Amino acid sequence: MNMKLRCQSCHKEYPSSEPIWNCKCGGLLTLDFHARFPVDKIQIRKPTMWRYREALPIEHDKHIISFDEGFTPLVEEQFSGKKVLLKQDHLFPSGSYKDRGASVLVSKIKELGVKKVVEDSSGNAGAAIAAYCAKANITCDIYVPEKTSAGKLLQIEQYGAALHKIPGTREDTAKAVWLAAQSTYYASHYWNPFFFQGTKTCIFEIVEQLGWNAPDAIILPVGNGTLLLGTYIGLKELQREKIIDTLPKIIGVQAENCSPLAQAWKKHHQIKNPFTWKETIAEGIAIANPVRAKDILHAIKETNGDIITVKEKDIISALHATIQKGYYIEPTSAVAVAGFQKYPIRKNAVVVVPLTGHGLKTTRES
Ligand SMILES: Cc1ncc(COP(=O)(O)O)c(C=O)c1O
Ligand SMILES: [Zn+2]
Repeated sequence: MNMKLRCQSCHKEYPSSEPIWNCKCGGLLTLDFHARFPVDKIQIRKPTMWRYREALPIEHDKHIISFDEGFTPLVEEQFSGKKVLLKQDHLFPSGSYKDRGASVLVSKIKELGVKKVVEDSSGNAGAAIAAYCAKANITCDIYVPEKTSAGKLLQIEQYGAALHKIPGTREDTAKAVWLAAQSTYYASHYWNPFFFQGTKTCIFEIVEQLGWNAPDAIILPVGNGTLLLGTYIGLKELQREKIIDTLPKIIGVQAENCSPLAQAWKKHHQIKNPFTWKETIAEGIAIANPVRAKDILHAIKETNGDIITVKEKDIISALHATIQKGYYIEPTSAVAVAGFQKYPIRKNAVVVVPLTGHGLKTTRES
């Protein structure tokens, strides 16, 4: 497979066989890789995210770390008389869509021969990396904010990861892992470009489930943008290969209490630094300083999308409304449902809302 890593700041290139997660200049890396979609072959493969094999940047099948996950159901529902397709990504082995990113990233780590990694997380990404490292026999240290839901902490520990509970904010956790990452490979869901190569499979599945057609809009929660940017990368690849013609609108939803991207979208495309925010029940997206903010805003602009905010009370009522339909999700996931309820969209538009995280991990707060 022909692929290379490229720095977004100084444009230096690295072979993908180098075990790096950022550029030597400190810049963010992007993966240059030509994804292909042999539709006839794909359609007769097992219903997992790995059916898009020619679009996933792992050289050798023997390195793939997978639980045969993915190809989650896409089901039609109605909220206040408005139709929506719910993509049930809370039904993953570790209970969130982050398994998509973890499956590709940990496979790459296996391919690189790395034996130990560190990762920081508000809970779900840490659980996903811990689960796949358990399967791959890779040692991992996971850094989380001390206030993370008890269910997520327990899950990470039970997978056998070393858990580091960091007092203070999500940013304090990011600082702690940053130090650790100076000497150990950083399996970061937001710095490491291979994670996005996994999250992009969500939109591949949606497009295939719609008969190889793009929806009109996809509405999703956004903090660091792993699902949002994965969706954008996947859409661009599908468009390049002429599987779809036009890009659907990408609508990112943030909790009003912590909405740096929504504010930047309205004003000058700059994140205020330092950015002040309040607690939110949407713990998964309480990210004050998303490192890939520029790319997120670009994806929204190019798809003619939007970034909107929802209030805590609307997240709670969307959570209850969704659970009462039988989808047991966590509050962060309900942010997108609340966004769907708020966002004005043409009647009969095909709108997809991914349900991103399972509710069992956050039962106390729900
Ligand atoms: C349940 C859930 N949904 C959505 C997200 C959003 O992901 P991101 O911060 O990558 O935008 C997260 C992140 O942790 C999450 O846990
Ligand atoms: Zn650089």
